[in-house]
Amino acid sequence: MTRKIFLTTALPYANGPFHIGHIMEYIQADIWARFQRMQGHQVHFVGADDAHGAPIMLKAEAEGITPQQLVGRIGAGRAQYLSGFHLSFDHWYTTDSPENTELSQEVYARLKAAGLIYVKSVEQFFDPVKGMFLADRYIKGECPVCHSKDQYGDACEVCSSVYVPTDLINPYSTLSGAKPELRSSDHFFFRLSDPRCVAFLEQWLDAPGRLQPQVINKAREWLSGSGDKALADWDISRDAPYFGIPIPDAPGKYFYVWLDAPIGYLAALKNYFESGKPRAKGELRSFEEFLGAPDTEQIHIIGKDIIYFHTLFWPAMLKFAGPPFKVPDHVYVHGFINLSGEKMSKSRGTGLSPLRYLEVGMNPEWLRYYIAAKLNGSVEDMDFNPEDFTLRVNSDLVGKFVNIASRASAFLTRQFAGKTRFAADASSVQAEAAALSSTVQAHYEAREYGRAIRELMAYADRINQAFDARQPWVLAKDPARAQELQEVCSRALYGFKVLAVLLAPVLPELSARAARELFGLDSSFMWADAAVLPQGIGSYRHLMQRVDPKQLDALFASVAAPAAAVKPAGTAAAKAAPAVADLPGTISIEEFRRIDLRVARIVEAAFVDGSDKLLKLTVDLGSGQRTVFAGIKAAYDPEKLKGRLTVVVANLAPRKMKFGTSEGMVLAASNESPGLYLLSPDSGAVPGMRIS
Ligand code: 2FM
Ligand code: ZN
Repeated sequence: MTRKIFLTTALPYANGPFHIGHIMEYIQADIWARFQRMQGHQVHFVGADDAHGAPIMLKAEAEGITPQQLVGRIGAGRAQYLSGFHLSFDHWYTTDSPENTELSQEVYARLKAAGLIYVKSVEQFFDPVKGMFLADRYIKGECPVCHSKDQYGDACEVCSSVYVPTDLINPYSTLSGAKPELRSSDHFFFRLSDPRCVAFLEQWLDAPGRLQPQVINKAREWLSGSGDKALADWDISRDAPYFGIPIPDAPGKYFYVWLDAPIGYLAALKNYFESGKPRAKGELRSFEEFLGAPDTEQIHIIGKDIIYFHTLFWPAMLKFAGPPFKVPDHVYVHGFINLSGEKMSKSRGTGLSPLRYLEVGMNPEWLRYYIAAKLNGSVEDMDFNPEDFTLRVNSDLVGKFVNIASRASAFLTRQFAGKTRFAADASSVQAEAAALSSTVQAHYEAREYGRAIRELMAYADRINQAFDARQPWVLAKDPARAQELQEVCSRALYGFKVLAVLLAPVLPELSARAARELFGLDSSFMWADAAVLPQGIGSYRHLMQRVDPKQLDALFASVAAPAAAVKPAGTAAAKAAPAVADLPGTISIEEFRRIDLRVARIVEAAFVDGSDKLLKLTVDLGSGQRTVFAGIKAAYDPEKLKGRLTVVVANLAPRKMKFGTSEGMVLAASNESPGLYLLSPDSGAVPGMRIS
């Protein structure tokens, strides 16, 4: 039976570029989607930007643009990641859309009709300067317990006390600095504590196989909490000014972003249906028919930080909104990805920049493979470890897997015109492949990708060992044993084909190339292709390079915050080098000589209070020391700069800045992509040397 799968990943906020946590989630989902498609199932894999909310509104305001412009710009930047990492979303949309407005208002109206919405007055801090109510994260003040200054409204980072914003001493708005006032306003609530909701959720959580055990436990804890921890109703409204969807018949009230975000899954699906693409894939039903059908599987893949929304609010909203809405069949949760043990949590978003990964020319399939090898069906965090990454790619992927094709093809092409030959007992080889295929199939299905990869690499080991044991290089010298050689190589080639098919969800490009170039197929592999012995081999071209440690150095050289465009000044990445026509007009050599460029040693480097861009550098120019303010904070840790040599424009007129006078300029390379690279001279240069 063909499964009809509606698959989503969590919708990313449209206020910044993707970080590695997003890409990890998308890779997990993409492998699953591709695996299902290879089984012949129908998959509608849909994503969208989560566009609404106060942070996006405020960010747009700070940039002097409308939220729609901001969301449009961020949305336009998504394609480079999606295609860059071979993420096969069928559709990408935005929650700031007519479909989402209509669906959110519809769901709300139905919940209201079901008696699950009520209005209650809420007292909250209001910023009289900005003219808006303040979410807790925009309020700071003195901790009521230890009296540390500048603590957030919910908890003290110094003494860890937990409190409410109104407990803060001398609270202030982080948006304007103003003293917030307590004001009341009517808020709309979703009655999650209603016995109907609780009863429904208890039964929904219990459905066998719906959720991972850790997730059920977490959700049950919330559901059955009492006292302080009792299940609370959900405040679903925000007051103007807010970037969101208006609540019908409630002027100045908007849906809280978390109400319309998951409905955005459905809005994206609806827009996708309207695009006609599902019809082209054989889905003849309308959006409503598809969504409401009992054979449609609605599956959400999310991170562990948003379990609450997806296992309580979301299913309850859908349930009580009624058909065609239906409750999710599965919510699959993954952990975070850490960089060698260090957290790269969403909010920090630094560490391994996915865009930089692509820019330095690293192969996206390496990352897909590495992530797959480390993923399992649980909620555990995973680690990105550069040494482990190199080892797994170089020794497993290239050394074990790709190598089989290159070794077998060499003999087959040279001596047998690319034709294969299988002995009468080839059925045992096929039986081994069939057993492997069904084991691996079960692992992919259960998102136990690490196990799938282990099985596949063990098989690659067996293929390589069997090949080596027959010493084909010896056989090749003896014309009487040509048939034997051909059989040995054919078996190895079949082993490679089995691997290429079963790894296709992880390595879609490499497998597609193998299908086309080596096995002469005119489309990518389907799962069943693993059972078919190859007739021959086309011309072999190298399938995958090894990781060069220099690429990893470049990847981690500067951990620039993704959005930190500092100072456009030429370019480091050859790929992005501007065309000659983009460069400024020519200057004479005399003009160039007027610039006094010197080698300098950075003797001190420090943060500048109140500046989010600058570092204060003390540079030694041989003849004496100078102070230079440089806009490189996003890219460099001051501690790491101390002692290094760089290049300074020594005869730049001193410039008075808000934080002091800058007596020169350090040179760095950058372009519109993230990343900023200080120049340094080759070793041997000393401070004061003239650069010409
Ligand atoms: O946590 C987040 O990044 C949210 N933007 C996820 C939303 S998922 C869904 F509900 F849209
Ligand atoms: Zn405190």
